[in-house]
Amino acid sequence: MGIDYPRRIGLARTPTPLQYLERASARWGRGHRLWVKRDDLTGCTLSGNKVRKLEFITAHAIDNGFDTLITCGGLQSNHCRATAFAGAQLGLGVHLLLRGEAPAQPEGNFLLDRLAGAAVSCYPKRQYVEEIDHLFFHWQQHYASLGRRALAIPTGGSDGIGAWGYIAACEELAADFAAQRIERAHIVTASGSGGTQAGLSLGVSLHGLPATVWGVNVCDDEAYFVNKVDADAADWQRRCGAPADARAGAPPCWARTTCTPPGPESRSGWQTGCAAPGSWASSG
Ligand SMILES: Cc1ncc(COP(=O)(O)O)c(C=O)c1O
Repeated sequence: MGIDYPRRIGLARTPTPLQYLERASARWGRGHRLWVKRDDLTGCTLSGNKVRKLEFITAHAIDNGFDTLITCGGLQSNHCRATAFAGAQLGLGVHLLLRGEAPAQPEGNFLLDRLAGAAVSCYPKRQYVEEIDHLFFHWQQHYASLGRRALAIPTGGSDGIGAWGYIAACEELAADFAAQRIERAHIVTASGSGGTQAGLSLGVSLHGLPATVWGVNVCDDEAYFVNKVDADAADWQRRCGAPADARAGAPPCWARTTCTPPGPESRSGWQTGCAAPGSWASSG
């Protein structure tokens, strides 16, 4: 299917390999093949799934006259660190609104954010949760007063712009499926802010991949992510004015793609919800 992609900036090393897990398949596959899409290899400082979204978000920012990126997350947010380095690479200012107390001794991503030249503001958890929309507005106003233009990027870069990253990734998966003769698959991804799952769900539908997308929530709960994935997909649809409703062509479980991680108390739910014929691929 020909898809009219918006411009993207090549920040990620793609395509990433689809790696066959021979021993894991023998141990846990129950006759099915297990694969991992090695998105940990998209780069170093911009690594992981974040950079696929940022390729489209940064292009959108530059094409629409923004010179600064404001985004938010936890003190050690990978998305914030990736945004800090993407901004540094492209000559965009970056301001991070972080949840938590600034440590006396910067370390990890918090240290890397600073080394990348990002401005950082830390807020106690309660203030962050209650006021994040206002904080974005406040800092956008601040940059406007300096004659600059700041784009507000939501948590995890998960919205209708970021979703393009994993719509495009599905093109890689289509080639992977063809190369490995995968005729039916379940794609399992972690869901932290929902954008990866939303992009994969849209991409599977748009590219006609024979796959069902499952998100495993790493925070919040199933209802939250069902709504979040739907909201990101609706935002994507609104922004690109998609005439063909990708969601209409989505698998019947569109609204049921999130399941709880396997654990003693949820084991049967996991097995009932996810065990089905086909191959398994995991993003990560
Ligand atoms: C490897 C990996 N995959 C997926 C996710 C989830 O991404 P998203 O924030 O788009 O839901 C994360 C982060 O939570 C991650 O680290």
